[in-house]
Amino acid sequence: SIPVITIDGPSGVGKGTVTLRLAQYLGWHHLDSGAIYRVLALAAAQRQLTDQRAEAITQLAVELQVEFQPLPDLSGTRVLLDQQDVTQQLRTETIAQFASQLAAIASIRSALLQRQRDCRRLPGLVADGRDMGTVVFPDAPLKFFLTASPQERANRRYKQLKQKGIDANLDNLVKEIAARDQRDCERQTAPLTPAADAQRIDTTTLSIEAVMAQLLTSVSK
Ligand code: CDP
Repeated sequence: SIPVITIDGPSGVGKGTVTLRLAQYLGWHHLDSGAIYRVLALAAAQRQLTDQRAEAITQLAVELQVEFQPLPDLSGTRVLLDQQDVTQQLRTETIAQFASQLAAIASIRSALLQRQRDCRRLPGLVADGRDMGTVVFPDAPLKFFLTASPQERANRRYKQLKQKGIDANLDNLVKEIAARDQRDCERQTAPLTPAADAQRIDTTTLSIEAVMAQLLTSVSK
């Protein structure tokens, strides 16, 4: 079967960056599953749907016209929603919060499942998310679960948002990330938890290069 490497964990552990680098290194595709939840949140917000409208949003998840175009410079993916470039709009913490509310709804998660599995294409896939190793690709031969202290994760996210020219406040980010962590860990469907066969890496004091070195050691085995 087509190989998959899964990289799961909470916000700000560096999953996105190492997923892109690993995919680039292997010449494989990459999946930013969080971007799918974020784009659904944006589409729902555009239609003034709140999380009280689970049925309407589930339908929207099925019909969503979204396209991911990998950028050549390792900076990520351009996301098109209904032919419009929404890449920058997806990065705000407001959208992330709404995404995590929608991500707690079982029918929404199942509506997005096949879309994610369809990203498994030759020669292989590196998949970044919360439930890649537990639910979406449970048969993946290589799984990682990255963690870091909450303060360090908020610091990293703060720097990243600033770099992208998005307004951010560190104290707010600490609270917002904690709120998402709690929602992600406590939901009934696919709660954030490492797959039994995932290798855990605490990245609190590790540079991206150091995390990459650990991943590559396992990949080459
Ligand atoms: O980049 P960050 O880790 O902060 O967020 P993200 O990966 O873009 O995901 C945004 C939200 O989508 C998360 O807080 C989760 O609630 C949800 N999500 C999920 O439930 N399952 C996934 N596989 C990916 C994201």
